[in-house]
Amino acid sequence: MQIIEPACAEDYRNYYDLRWRILRAPWNQPRGSERDPQDAGSTHLMLVDARGKPLAAGRLHFNTIREAQIRYMAVDIPYQRNGLGSRLLAALEHRARALGAAVIVLDARETALGFYRKHGYQVLGSGHMLFNRIAHVRMSKPLGGAAVQGK
Ligand SMILES: CC(C)(COP(=O)(O)OP(=O)(O)OC[C@H]1O[C@@H](n2cnc3c(N)ncnc32)[C@H](O)[C@@H]1OP(=O)(O)O)[C@@H](O)C(=O)NCCC(=O)NCCS
Repeated sequence: MQIIEPACAEDYRNYYDLRWRILRAPWNQPRGSERDPQDAGSTHLMLVDARGKPLAAGRLHFNTIREAQIRYMAVDIPYQRNGLGSRLLAALEHRARALGAAVIVLDARETALGFYRKHGYQVLGSGHMLFNRIAHVRMSKPLGGAAVQGK
């Protein structure tokens, strides 16, 4: 098992397919709804098994030079609650820190609140409602040890 950045068309197909299957298909949303315009400038990470099969996916983008945001965290159903989401989240946080982020924000589905709390995220307030059905909670986590520029 390893964490990779999608590098070729097949990697990206697998990556977006996982996002769609876990985060969109259960709510009858069409293919394509798992993407947004910020994908182009984002960091995409994917956890794959020894044969390259994608098991987990997640995305990092920057809202400001110091604030990074994680979106589209998805672990394939048979592999949930096995520590894979934690591994991927740690890798996304590591990348955010390396790119200079001081804080990470995210909009957690209420069903995933416990996962993010366990990893040190705190609730800031209520977030958006997706498809009129999925309530989100805005959370954040300061990143210790971010590089201080200019010193
Ligand atoms: C939420 C998700 C990313 C977590 O990844 P995961 O690999 O299943 O989680 P981990 O095994 O790394 O979890 C570590 C710990 O977080 C907590 N946790 C994980 N999922 C949780 C959940 N849904 N609710 C409450 N706590 C949770 C548990 O304490 C867990 O430890 P335990 O298994 O010993 O109880 C994954 O379950 C998933 O893709 N869910 C469906 C899609 C989704 O909700 N994505 C998030 C959108 S904001």
